[in-house]
Amino acid sequence: MSVANHPVRVPLLDHDPGFFKSVANLQDNVLLAIPAQALEVPVFSGRTIVSWHMIMEPQAIKRILLDRLDDYPKSRTTKTLLGPAIGDSLFIAEGAHWRWQRRATAPAFSHRTVTSLAPVMSAAAEAACTRIAAAGVRAVDVAEEMTIATFDVIADVTFSGDDMMDRAAVHAAIDGYINEAGKVSVLDILGAPSWVPRLGRGPAMRLMTQTKKVADNAITRRRAKGAREIPDLLDMLLAAKDPKSGRSMSTAELRDNLLTFIVAGHETTAQTLAWALYLMGLDEDAQARARTEAQTALGGRVAGADDLEHLPFIRSIIDETLRLYPAGGMLSRTAMADDTLAGAQIRKGDTVMIPVYALGRHRDLWDEPDAFRPDRFADRKAIDRYAYLPFGDGPRVCIGASFALQEAVIILATLLSRFEFKAVKGRTPDPKMLITLRPQGGVWLTATPV
Ligand code: HEM
Repeated sequence: MSVANHPVRVPLLDHDPGFFKSVANLQDNVLLAIPAQALEVPVFSGRTIVSWHMIMEPQAIKRILLDRLDDYPKSRTTKTLLGPAIGDSLFIAEGAHWRWQRRATAPAFSHRTVTSLAPVMSAAAEAACTRIAAAGVRAVDVAEEMTIATFDVIADVTFSGDDMMDRAAVHAAIDGYINEAGKVSVLDILGAPSWVPRLGRGPAMRLMTQTKKVADNAITRRRAKGAREIPDLLDMLLAAKDPKSGRSMSTAELRDNLLTFIVAGHETTAQTLAWALYLMGLDEDAQARARTEAQTALGGRVAGADDLEHLPFIRSIIDETLRLYPAGGMLSRTAMADDTLAGAQIRKGDTVMIPVYALGRHRDLWDEPDAFRPDRFADRKAIDRYAYLPFGDGPRVCIGASFALQEAVIILATLLSRFEFKAVKGRTPDPKMLITLRPQGGVWLTATPV
Protein backbone atom coordinates (compact mmCIF):
# COMPACT_ATOMS: atom_id res chain seq x y z
CA MET A 1 0.00 0.00 0.00
CA SER A 2 1.38 3.42 -0.89
CA VAL A 3 2.06 6.06 1.72
CA ALA A 4 -0.95 7.94 0.32
CA ASN A 5 -3.10 5.26 1.87
CA HIS A 6 -1.84 5.99 5.35
CA PRO A 7 -3.08 9.43 6.23
CA VAL A 8 -2.61 10.28 9.89
CA ARG A 9 -5.23 8.96 12.34
CA VAL A 10 -6.35 9.65 15.88
CA PRO A 11 -4.83 6.92 18.11
CA LEU A 12 -8.15 5.64 19.49
CA LEU A 13 -7.72 3.74 22.76
CA ASP A 14 -8.42 0.00 23.04
CA HIS A 15 -8.57 0.01 26.83
CA ASP A 16 -10.30 2.10 29.48
CA PRO A 17 -7.62 4.49 30.78
CA GLY A 18 -9.51 5.21 34.02
CA PHE A 19 -11.37 8.35 34.99
CA PHE A 20 -8.49 10.75 35.65
CA LYS A 21 -6.48 9.76 32.59
CA SER A 22 -9.70 10.06 30.54
CA VAL A 23 -10.15 13.61 31.72
CA ALA A 24 -6.55 14.45 30.82
CA ASN A 25 -6.89 12.82 27.40
CA LEU A 26 -10.15 14.57 26.65
CA GLN A 27 -8.71 17.91 27.54
CA ASP A 28 -6.19 17.32 24.79
CA ASN A 29 -8.43 15.71 22.18
CA VAL A 30 -12.16 15.04 22.42
CA LEU A 31 -11.89 12.20 19.90
CA LEU A 32 -9.93 10.19 22.48
CA ALA A 33 -13.33 9.65 24.09
CA ILE A 34 -14.05 7.27 21.20
CA PRO A 35 -12.90 3.73 22.00
CA ALA A 36 -11.21 1.77 19.19
CA GLN A 37 -14.12 -0.73 19.33
CA ALA A 38 -16.43 2.01 18.00
CA LEU A 39 -14.94 1.30 14.57
CA GLU A 40 -16.35 -2.24 14.69
CA VAL A 41 -19.61 -2.25 16.66
CA PRO A 42 -22.99 -0.53 16.07
CA VAL A 43 -23.23 0.97 19.55
CA PHE A 44 -20.91 1.48 22.52
CA SER A 45 -22.25 2.54 25.91
CA GLY A 46 -20.50 3.70 29.07
CA ARG A 47 -20.89 5.82 32.15
CA THR A 48 -18.78 8.58 33.63
CA ILE A 49 -21.01 11.00 35.54
CA VAL A 50 -23.95 10.38 33.22
CA SER A 51 -24.65 7.36 31.04
CA TRP A 52 -23.64 7.84 27.43
CA HIS A 53 -24.00 5.93 24.20
CA MET A 54 -22.06 6.24 20.95
CA ILE A 55 -24.18 5.25 17.98
CA MET A 56 -22.58 4.04 14.74
CA GLU A 57 -25.56 2.25 13.17
CA PRO A 58 -27.00 4.28 10.23
CA GLN A 59 -30.69 3.44 10.87
CA ALA A 60 -30.39 4.32 14.56
CA ILE A 61 -28.71 7.58 13.59
CA LYS A 62 -31.59 8.35 11.24
CA ARG A 63 -33.93 7.85 14.20
CA ILE A 64 -31.99 10.41 16.27
CA LEU A 65 -31.59 13.05 13.58
CA LEU A 66 -34.84 12.66 11.68
CA ASP A 67 -37.59 10.32 12.95
CA ARG A 68 -37.41 11.28 16.66
CA LEU A 69 -35.90 14.76 16.36
CA ASP A 70 -37.86 16.17 19.32
CA ASP A 71 -36.71 13.37 21.64
CA TYR A 72 -33.06 14.17 20.90
CA PRO A 73 -32.40 17.89 21.29
CA LYS A 74 -28.83 19.18 21.18
CA SER A 75 -26.98 18.19 24.32
CA ARG A 76 -26.54 20.33 27.39
CA THR A 77 -22.83 20.26 26.50
CA THR A 78 -23.33 22.12 23.23
CA LYS A 79 -25.55 24.68 24.93
CA THR A 80 -23.34 25.39 27.94
CA LEU A 81 -20.35 25.65 25.70
CA LEU A 82 -21.59 27.88 22.93
CA GLY A 83 -24.53 29.69 24.55
CA PRO A 84 -22.46 32.48 26.18
CA ALA A 85 -20.94 33.31 22.77
CA ILE A 86 -23.82 32.88 20.34
CA GLY A 87 -26.95 33.16 22.49
CA ASP A 88 -30.06 31.16 21.75
CA SER A 89 -29.39 31.36 18.02
CA LEU A 90 -30.05 28.91 15.21
CA PHE A 91 -27.24 26.54 16.23
CA ILE A 92 -28.55 25.81 19.73
CA ALA A 93 -32.17 26.93 19.93
CA GLU A 94 -34.86 24.25 20.16
CA GLY A 95 -38.52 23.85 19.26
CA ALA A 96 -40.51 26.83 17.99
CA HIS A 97 -37.66 29.30 18.61
CA TRP A 98 -35.31 27.20 16.46
CA ARG A 99 -37.95 26.59 13.79
CA TRP A 100 -38.72 30.23 13.12
CA GLN A 101 -35.04 31.19 12.99
CA ARG A 102 -34.38 28.36 10.53
CA ARG A 103 -37.28 29.50 8.33
CA ALA A 104 -36.11 33.12 8.48
CA THR A 105 -32.46 32.35 7.65
CA ALA A 106 -33.08 29.66 4.99
CA PRO A 107 -33.33 32.12 2.03
CA ALA A 108 -29.87 33.47 2.91
CA PHE A 109 -28.50 29.98 2.17
CA SER A 110 -30.58 29.13 -0.91
CA HIS A 111 -28.78 27.88 -4.00
CA ARG A 112 -29.33 31.25 -5.67
CA THR A 113 -27.89 33.29 -2.80
CA VAL A 114 -24.91 31.00 -2.31
CA THR A 115 -24.12 31.24 -6.03
CA SER A 116 -24.32 35.04 -5.82
CA LEU A 117 -21.74 35.03 -3.00
CA ALA A 118 -19.15 33.16 -5.11
CA PRO A 119 -17.19 36.31 -6.11
CA VAL A 120 -16.30 36.83 -2.43
CA MET A 121 -14.90 33.29 -2.34
CA SER A 122 -13.00 33.79 -5.59
CA ALA A 123 -11.45 36.99 -4.18
CA ALA A 124 -10.33 35.13 -1.04
CA ALA A 125 -8.82 32.37 -3.24
CA GLU A 126 -6.92 34.97 -5.26
CA ALA A 127 -5.64 36.68 -2.10
CA ALA A 128 -4.49 33.32 -0.68
CA CYS A 129 -2.54 32.65 -3.91
CA THR A 130 -0.82 36.03 -3.61
CA ARG A 131 0.18 35.34 0.02
CA ILE A 132 1.43 31.84 -0.76
CA ALA A 133 3.40 33.06 -3.80
CA ALA A 134 5.02 35.73 -1.60
CA ALA A 135 6.46 33.00 0.65
CA GLY A 136 8.65 31.86 -2.28
CA VAL A 137 10.60 28.70 -1.58
CA ARG A 138 9.88 28.79 2.15
CA ALA A 139 7.43 26.25 3.58
CA VAL A 140 3.98 27.67 4.31
CA ASP A 141 1.53 26.65 7.01
CA VAL A 142 -1.47 26.31 4.72
CA ALA A 143 -3.74 25.73 7.73
CA GLU A 144 -3.00 29.30 8.80
CA GLU A 145 -3.52 30.55 5.24
CA MET A 146 -6.87 28.79 4.95
CA THR A 147 -8.02 30.29 8.25
CA ILE A 148 -7.30 33.75 6.88
CA ALA A 149 -9.06 32.93 3.60
CA THR A 150 -12.26 31.56 5.16
CA PHE A 151 -12.39 34.37 7.70
CA ASP A 152 -12.16 36.88 4.83
CA VAL A 153 -15.12 35.17 3.20
CA ILE A 154 -17.34 34.96 6.25
CA ALA A 155 -16.50 38.51 7.37
CA ASP A 156 -17.31 39.82 3.88
CA VAL A 157 -20.64 38.06 3.61
CA THR A 158 -21.79 38.89 7.14
CA PHE A 159 -20.70 42.47 7.73
CA SER A 160 -19.39 43.44 4.29
CA GLY A 161 -17.62 46.75 4.01
CA ASP A 162 -18.46 47.75 7.57
CA ASP A 163 -15.41 49.82 8.43
CA MET A 164 -16.40 49.98 12.09
CA MET A 165 -15.95 46.19 12.40
CA ASP A 166 -12.31 45.60 13.21
CA ARG A 167 -11.89 42.21 11.58
CA ALA A 168 -8.73 41.28 13.43
CA ALA A 169 -10.40 42.05 16.77
CA VAL A 170 -13.52 40.05 15.93
CA HIS A 171 -11.36 37.15 14.73
CA ALA A 172 -9.27 37.23 17.91
CA ALA A 173 -12.33 37.38 20.16
CA ILE A 174 -14.02 34.43 18.49
CA ASP A 175 -10.89 32.29 18.32
CA GLY A 176 -10.06 33.15 21.93
CA TYR A 177 -13.50 32.11 23.10
CA ILE A 178 -13.51 28.87 21.11
CA ASN A 179 -10.06 27.93 22.41
CA GLU A 180 -10.99 28.60 26.01
CA ALA A 181 -14.35 26.88 25.71
CA GLY A 182 -12.69 23.88 24.06
CA LYS A 183 -10.24 23.48 26.91
CA VAL A 184 -12.91 23.31 29.56
CA SER A 185 -15.53 21.51 27.48
CA VAL A 186 -14.41 18.21 28.91
CA LEU A 187 -16.33 18.94 32.11
CA ASP A 188 -19.47 19.26 30.05
CA ILE A 189 -18.77 16.13 28.06
CA LEU A 190 -18.44 14.19 31.28
CA GLY A 191 -21.79 15.61 32.37
CA ALA A 192 -20.54 17.78 35.24
CA PRO A 193 -23.35 19.99 36.49
CA SER A 194 -23.25 23.61 35.47
CA TRP A 195 -22.17 24.94 38.91
CA VAL A 196 -18.71 23.42 38.40
CA PRO A 197 -16.49 26.45 37.68
CA ARG A 198 -15.28 26.50 34.10
CA LEU A 199 -11.90 28.09 34.57
CA GLY A 200 -10.59 30.31 31.85
CA ARG A 201 -13.80 31.58 30.36
CA GLY A 202 -13.38 35.00 31.96
CA PRO A 203 -11.06 37.02 29.64
CA ALA A 204 -12.32 35.23 26.54
CA MET A 205 -15.89 36.06 27.47
CA ARG A 206 -15.02 39.72 28.05
CA LEU A 207 -13.65 39.99 24.50
CA MET A 208 -16.74 38.24 23.18
CA THR A 209 -18.98 40.74 25.02
CA GLN A 210 -17.07 43.59 23.39
CA THR A 211 -17.46 41.96 19.98
CA LYS A 212 -21.20 41.68 20.51
CA LYS A 213 -21.37 45.42 21.18
CA VAL A 214 -19.39 46.22 18.03
CA ALA A 215 -21.67 43.93 16.02
CA ASP A 216 -24.80 45.54 17.49
CA ASN A 217 -23.55 48.97 16.45
CA ALA A 218 -22.82 47.74 12.92
CA ILE A 219 -26.35 46.30 12.71
CA THR A 220 -27.94 49.52 13.95
CA ARG A 221 -25.96 51.53 11.39
CA ARG A 222 -26.99 49.19 8.57
CA ARG A 223 -30.63 49.32 9.63
CA ALA A 224 -30.44 53.11 9.30
CA LYS A 225 -28.47 53.10 6.04
CA GLY A 226 -30.52 50.45 4.22
CA ALA A 227 -29.39 47.43 2.24
CA ARG A 228 -26.25 47.42 0.13
CA GLU A 229 -26.45 47.20 -3.64
CA ILE A 230 -25.41 43.54 -3.56
CA PRO A 231 -27.08 42.34 -0.36
CA ASP A 232 -24.94 40.43 2.13
CA LEU A 233 -26.17 38.04 4.83
CA LEU A 234 -26.84 40.93 7.22
CA ASP A 235 -29.10 42.63 4.66
CA MET A 236 -30.91 39.36 4.07
CA LEU A 237 -31.47 38.71 7.74
CA LEU A 238 -32.59 42.30 8.27
CA ALA A 239 -35.20 41.79 5.57
CA ALA A 240 -36.08 38.26 6.72
CA LYS A 241 -39.51 37.57 8.06
CA ASP A 242 -40.85 34.31 9.33
CA PRO A 243 -43.08 33.23 6.43
CA LYS A 244 -45.59 31.91 8.98
CA SER A 245 -45.84 34.63 11.64
CA GLY A 246 -44.41 37.65 9.80
CA ARG A 247 -42.06 38.25 12.75
CA SER A 248 -38.59 39.66 12.01
CA MET A 249 -35.38 39.51 14.07
CA SER A 250 -34.36 41.85 16.87
CA THR A 251 -30.85 43.32 16.81
CA ALA A 252 -29.70 40.80 19.45
CA GLU A 253 -31.12 37.88 17.46
CA LEU A 254 -29.50 39.16 14.27
CA ARG A 255 -26.15 39.57 16.00
CA ASP A 256 -26.27 36.13 17.62
CA ASN A 257 -27.03 34.51 14.28
CA LEU A 258 -24.36 36.42 12.40
CA LEU A 259 -21.81 35.48 15.07
CA THR A 260 -23.08 31.89 14.77
CA PHE A 261 -22.35 31.92 11.05
CA ILE A 262 -18.85 33.22 11.75
CA VAL A 263 -18.21 30.64 14.50
CA ALA A 264 -19.79 27.69 12.66
CA GLY A 265 -18.64 28.60 9.19
CA HIS A 266 -15.06 29.70 9.25
CA GLU A 267 -12.85 27.27 11.19
CA THR A 268 -14.79 24.28 9.88
CA THR A 269 -14.21 25.25 6.25
CA ALA A 270 -10.59 26.31 6.92
CA GLN A 271 -9.79 22.98 8.51
CA THR A 272 -11.42 21.03 5.71
CA LEU A 273 -9.23 22.89 3.21
CA ALA A 274 -6.13 22.43 5.36
CA TRP A 275 -6.72 18.67 5.63
CA ALA A 276 -7.42 18.48 1.88
CA LEU A 277 -4.08 20.16 1.18
CA TYR A 278 -2.35 17.81 3.64
CA LEU A 279 -3.82 14.88 1.67
CA MET A 280 -2.63 16.49 -1.58
CA GLY A 281 0.89 16.63 -0.15
CA LEU A 282 0.62 12.93 0.67
CA ASP A 283 -0.90 11.68 -2.58
CA GLU A 284 1.02 13.20 -5.48
CA ASP A 285 -0.95 11.27 -8.11
CA ALA A 286 -4.27 12.60 -6.86
CA GLN A 287 -2.78 16.09 -6.72
CA ALA A 288 -1.58 15.86 -10.33
CA ARG A 289 -5.00 14.61 -11.47
CA ALA A 290 -6.75 17.41 -9.59
CA ARG A 291 -4.38 20.00 -11.07
CA THR A 292 -5.11 18.81 -14.61
CA GLU A 293 -8.85 19.04 -13.90
CA ALA A 294 -8.51 22.54 -12.42
CA GLN A 295 -6.24 23.89 -15.15
CA THR A 296 -8.49 22.51 -17.89
CA ALA A 297 -11.60 24.04 -16.31
CA LEU A 298 -10.07 27.38 -15.36
CA GLY A 299 -7.43 28.14 -18.00
CA GLY A 300 -5.54 30.38 -15.59
CA ARG A 301 -8.62 32.12 -14.14
CA VAL A 302 -9.65 32.05 -10.50
CA ALA A 303 -12.49 29.55 -9.95
CA GLY A 304 -16.10 30.79 -9.66
CA ALA A 305 -19.57 29.32 -9.23
CA ASP A 306 -19.92 28.35 -12.92
CA ASP A 307 -16.83 26.16 -12.74
CA LEU A 308 -18.13 23.82 -10.05
CA GLU A 309 -19.75 21.38 -12.47
CA HIS A 310 -16.42 20.96 -14.25
CA LEU A 311 -14.53 20.13 -11.05
CA PRO A 312 -15.99 16.75 -9.98
CA PHE A 313 -12.68 15.23 -8.84
CA ILE A 314 -11.85 18.24 -6.69
CA ARG A 315 -15.32 17.98 -5.14
CA SER A 316 -14.64 14.28 -4.43
CA ILE A 317 -11.38 15.25 -2.71
CA ILE A 318 -13.34 17.57 -0.42
CA ASP A 319 -15.95 14.87 0.25
CA GLU A 320 -13.27 12.30 1.06
CA THR A 321 -11.44 14.82 3.27
CA LEU A 322 -14.67 15.35 5.22
CA ARG A 323 -14.99 11.58 5.69
CA LEU A 324 -11.45 11.22 7.07
CA TYR A 325 -11.31 14.52 8.98
CA PRO A 326 -14.85 15.75 9.66
CA ALA A 327 -14.60 19.20 11.27
CA GLY A 328 -17.65 18.31 13.36
CA GLY A 329 -16.21 14.99 14.50
CA MET A 330 -18.73 14.36 17.26
CA LEU A 331 -22.42 15.32 17.50
CA SER A 332 -24.15 15.04 20.83
CA ARG A 333 -27.73 15.02 22.02
CA THR A 334 -29.55 14.56 25.32
CA ALA A 335 -32.31 11.90 25.28
CA MET A 336 -35.68 13.30 26.40
CA ALA A 337 -37.41 9.90 26.48
CA ASP A 338 -36.57 6.24 27.01
CA ASP A 339 -35.76 4.52 23.73
CA THR A 340 -33.83 1.66 22.13
CA LEU A 341 -31.05 2.49 19.68
CA ALA A 342 -29.15 -0.25 17.84
CA GLY A 343 -30.24 -2.62 20.63
CA ALA A 344 -29.02 -0.37 23.46
CA GLN A 345 -31.44 0.80 26.18
CA ILE A 346 -31.50 4.58 26.29
CA ARG A 347 -32.88 6.28 29.41
CA LYS A 348 -34.24 9.80 29.58
CA GLY A 349 -31.34 12.14 30.42
CA ASP A 350 -28.63 9.95 28.84
CA THR A 351 -26.11 11.53 26.50
CA VAL A 352 -26.33 10.16 22.97
CA MET A 353 -23.33 10.79 20.72
CA ILE A 354 -22.81 10.32 17.00
CA PRO A 355 -19.05 10.04 16.58
CA VAL A 356 -18.91 11.23 12.96
CA TYR A 357 -15.16 10.57 12.93
CA ALA A 358 -15.66 6.87 13.81
CA LEU A 359 -18.62 6.56 11.46
CA GLY A 360 -16.48 7.65 8.51
CA ARG A 361 -13.92 4.97 9.35
CA HIS A 362 -16.24 2.17 10.45
CA ARG A 363 -15.08 -1.25 9.29
CA ASP A 364 -18.59 -2.42 8.30
CA LEU A 365 -19.47 0.72 6.37
CA TRP A 366 -16.39 1.45 4.22
CA ASP A 367 -13.80 -0.44 2.16
CA GLU A 368 -10.27 0.39 3.29
CA PRO A 369 -11.75 2.89 5.73
CA ASP A 370 -8.48 4.60 6.64
CA ALA A 371 -7.29 5.05 3.04
CA PHE A 372 -7.64 8.28 1.05
CA ARG A 373 -9.68 7.25 -2.00
CA PRO A 374 -11.62 10.21 -3.41
CA ASP A 375 -13.05 8.02 -6.17
CA ARG A 376 -15.34 6.32 -3.66
CA PHE A 377 -17.45 9.48 -4.08
CA ALA A 378 -17.59 9.17 -7.89
CA ASP A 379 -20.93 7.38 -7.43
CA ARG A 380 -22.65 9.23 -4.62
CA LYS A 381 -25.70 6.99 -4.71
CA ALA A 382 -23.53 4.09 -3.55
CA ILE A 383 -22.86 5.88 -0.23
CA ASP A 384 -25.28 5.16 2.63
CA ARG A 385 -26.63 8.57 3.56
CA TYR A 386 -26.53 7.94 7.30
CA ALA A 387 -23.00 6.50 7.17
CA TYR A 388 -21.57 9.80 5.95
CA LEU A 389 -22.54 12.78 8.07
CA PRO A 390 -20.00 15.60 7.89
CA PHE A 391 -22.89 18.09 7.89
CA GLY A 392 -25.30 16.13 10.11
CA ASP A 393 -28.74 15.36 8.65
CA GLY A 394 -32.45 15.84 9.14
CA PRO A 395 -34.03 19.22 9.88
CA ARG A 396 -30.92 20.35 11.80
CA VAL A 397 -28.53 19.59 8.97
CA CYS A 398 -25.84 22.26 8.50
CA ILE A 399 -27.51 25.26 6.90
CA GLY A 400 -24.14 26.30 5.43
CA ALA A 401 -23.28 22.98 3.73
CA SER A 402 -23.55 24.17 0.13
CA PHE A 403 -21.91 27.49 1.06
CA ALA A 404 -18.97 25.57 2.57
CA LEU A 405 -18.67 23.09 -0.30
CA GLN A 406 -18.75 25.83 -2.92
CA GLU A 407 -16.13 27.82 -1.00
CA ALA A 408 -13.87 24.80 -0.48
CA VAL A 409 -13.99 23.75 -4.15
CA ILE A 410 -13.37 27.32 -5.40
CA ILE A 411 -10.35 27.78 -3.12
CA LEU A 412 -8.85 24.29 -3.57
CA ALA A 413 -9.24 24.33 -7.37
CA THR A 414 -7.66 27.76 -7.67
CA LEU A 415 -4.70 26.82 -5.46
CA LEU A 416 -4.06 23.52 -7.23
CA SER A 417 -4.23 25.16 -10.65
CA ARG A 418 -1.45 27.57 -9.63
CA PHE A 419 0.92 25.63 -7.35
CA GLU A 420 2.48 22.25 -6.87
CA PHE A 421 2.37 21.43 -3.16
CA LYS A 422 4.94 19.20 -1.48
CA ALA A 423 4.86 17.95 2.09
CA VAL A 424 7.66 19.04 4.42
CA LYS A 425 9.28 15.92 5.90
CA GLY A 426 8.83 15.37 9.62
CA ARG A 427 5.97 17.84 9.99
CA THR A 428 2.91 15.62 10.02
CA PRO A 429 -0.09 17.37 11.57
CA ASP A 430 -1.73 15.82 14.59
CA PRO A 431 -5.55 15.43 14.33
CA LYS A 432 -6.95 17.01 17.49
CA MET A 433 -10.50 17.92 18.16
CA LEU A 434 -11.55 20.41 20.80
CA ILE A 435 -14.52 22.14 19.23
CA THR A 436 -13.51 21.23 15.68
CA LEU A 437 -11.01 18.73 14.26
CA ARG A 438 -7.77 20.68 13.75
CA PRO A 439 -4.47 19.74 12.16
CA GLN A 440 -2.43 20.51 15.26
CA GLY A 441 1.07 21.75 14.44
CA GLY A 442 -0.15 23.13 11.13
CA VAL A 443 0.00 21.77 7.58
CA TRP A 444 3.45 22.71 6.28
CA LEU A 445 3.91 22.52 2.54
CA THR A 446 6.17 24.08 -0.04
CA ALA A 447 4.35 25.65 -2.96
CA THR A 448 6.02 25.88 -6.37
CA PRO A 449 4.21 27.97 -8.99
CA VAL A 450 3.28 25.89 -12.07
C1 HEM B 1 -16.88 22.27 6.04
C2 HEM B 1 -17.57 23.16 6.73
C3 HEM B 1 -18.68 22.84 7.70
C4 HEM B 1 -18.91 21.69 8.41
C5 HEM B 1 -18.08 20.40 8.42
C6 HEM B 1 -20.11 21.90 9.18
C7 HEM B 1 -20.70 20.95 10.00
C8 HEM B 1 -21.92 21.12 10.64
C9 HEM B 1 -22.61 20.07 11.37
C10 HEM B 1 -22.10 18.65 11.56
C11 HEM B 1 -23.76 20.61 11.83
C12 HEM B 1 -24.84 19.86 12.63
C13 HEM B 1 -24.54 19.86 14.09
C14 HEM B 1 -25.47 18.96 14.89
O1 HEM B 1 -26.40 18.38 14.33
O2 HEM B 1 -25.24 18.84 16.10
C15 HEM B 1 -23.80 21.99 11.43
C16 HEM B 1 -24.82 22.88 11.75
C17 HEM B 1 -24.80 24.21 11.42
N1 HEM B 1 -23.87 24.85 10.61
FE1 HEM B 1 -22.31 24.00 9.69
N2 HEM B 1 -20.58 23.17 8.95
C18 HEM B 1 -19.74 23.77 8.04
C19 HEM B 1 -19.88 25.04 7.51
C20 HEM B 1 -20.85 25.95 7.87
C21 HEM B 1 -20.99 27.29 7.31
C22 HEM B 1 -20.12 27.87 6.19
C23 HEM B 1 -22.02 27.90 7.99
C24 HEM B 1 -22.61 29.28 7.83
C25 HEM B 1 -22.12 30.24 7.11
C26 HEM B 1 -22.54 26.93 8.94
C27 HEM B 1 -23.58 27.16 9.81
C28 HEM B 1 -24.21 26.18 10.55
C29 HEM B 1 -25.40 26.43 11.36
C30 HEM B 1 -26.09 27.77 11.57
C31 HEM B 1 -25.77 25.19 11.90
C32 HEM B 1 -26.97 24.92 12.80
C33 HEM B 1 -28.19 24.60 11.96
C34 HEM B 1 -29.43 24.26 12.76
O3 HEM B 1 -29.32 23.70 13.85
O4 HEM B 1 -30.53 24.53 12.24
N3 HEM B 1 -21.80 25.77 8.83
N4 HEM B 1 -22.67 22.27 10.69
